Amino acid sequence: MTVGGDGGPSSPEAGPDLDAVRYLLVGYSADLLVDLDGFLPERSVAVVETPDVIEARGVRGQIGAVRCLAAVLAAPIQDEANAVRLVGLVPRPPRIGAVVPASDYGVVAAATLAAAWGLPGAGPDAAPVFRDKAELRRTAGGAGIAQPEWRLVTGPAEVAAFRAGGDGTCVLKPTNRQASVGVQILPPDADVFTAWALTAGAEEQMFRPGDAGGSRYLAERLLRGPEVSAEVLVRDGRTVFFNTTAKDVQPGRHPVETGHVVSGPVTEEVAAALATGMRALVEATKFGSGVLHGEWIVVDGVPHLVECAARLPGDYIVELIAMAYDWSLLHGFLAVLEGRAADPAPPVARGAAIRYLSAAPGTVDAVDGVEQARAVPGVCDVLVRVAPGDTVEPVTSSWKRPGHVIATAPDAPSAARAAEQARAALTIATHPGAGR
Ligand SMILES: Nc1ncnc2c1ncn2[C@@H]1O[C@H](COP(=O)(O)OP(=O)(O)O)[C@@H](O)[C@H]1O
Ligand SMILES: [Mg+2]
Repeated sequence: MTVGGDGGPSSPEAGPDLDAVRYLLVGYSADLLVDLDGFLPERSVAVVETPDVIEARGVRGQIGAVRCLAAVLAAPIQDEANAVRLVGLVPRPPRIGAVVPASDYGVVAAATLAAAWGLPGAGPDAAPVFRDKAELRRTAGGAGIAQPEWRLVTGPAEVAAFRAGGDGTCVLKPTNRQASVGVQILPPDADVFTAWALTAGAEEQMFRPGDAGGSRYLAERLLRGPEVSAEVLVRDGRTVFFNTTAKDVQPGRHPVETGHVVSGPVTEEVAAALATGMRALVEATKFGSGVLHGEWIVVDGVPHLVECAARLPGDYIVELIAMAYDWSLLHGFLAVLEGRAADPAPPVARGAAIRYLSAAPGTVDAVDGVEQARAVPGVCDVLVRVAPGDTVEPVTSSWKRPGHVIATAPDAPSAARAAEQARAALTIATHPGAGR
């Protein structure tokens, strides 16, 4: 396959116009592009994506609409096993300054291109570990990092056997997805055949059309305790920024995140253990430069690893960090990927929190309370993604959540309370049955 480029409306035949490109985003993120457009020069960004995603998400349409975007390149970035092929397929922009992993599915490709072009990045050996939850477990186990018992499973019978070997409950998940897609908590009475079909069939169509590379599956013991994440900015293997985020997850079979609070109100001991755990991950994987977003569950005071991604966190955590610290993790990320020192983060100045909305599955009759939610002191963002007539599906992944509210306050618990109050002021009324 060859790379298809698009230099915009004026020069489609001339190939991609990469002359002014400083940043290559590996993987398409509409939100990231908009954020970058706020401060990067005109035509300083190119996006490389797999052709299916470019087509499905209309990525070429962003050229012209997003000032900083110069070109969209098509290449098989999700073919992680053959990522080295990309070096022959993706043209090196002459003034390239940084290769940016812009989606989870671009992490391996970004690390490969960065290494080939002599730029900082995760490192071609580290990146695949963060894209495969079984490899991460193997590596974390070798490094003595606390984590649940786990095994790779190839079908329902193995899931049943693993579940029976513990306390009767287990977690089943794909090794290479995100956003809780296909992740299930299986209580003792859950039918493993139905569960397997659901997890193996869980798709992320907009991000992985055709499911490049398939998946393997993990069974894990269920960890019980408060959930937190740690966000670290790493430059040449050294942590230059560390934050903790407390999170909430919906109860039941599908553990989808329902809220985050920055900085996570955790004890000093837990914060220190998280910092040690993240450092151990950096060392064990020989991670180079970038951001790690590690998820942990604190069992009896000890953080146990859930998973870790080698990219910016999602769920507006970058925005929450910006509000809480008056400092940009995004700017820091670009700096370390360009080989520059990031501006040091000041001490945390306030709390910031997001709460996701929920609604009974069905057809939306009415959305009420938006103005009341906005009027709650500290609330700075209210987004409702559904309107009357729309369908609300059961929330089986992050993509199914119908909206969110964001609030800031002098401290983290007050921010969480303000967001909670705003969320409670909002109602999405539905009746059973699908709408449009
Ligand atoms: N072993 C586990 N014990 C308890 N909860 C888990 C476990 N593994 C995953 N979860 C829950 O499921 C969520 C999604 O799983 P995760 O491994 O983070 O996959 P994803 O990459 O889709 O986010 C986690 O945020 C956590 O709440
Ligand atoms: Mg996760």
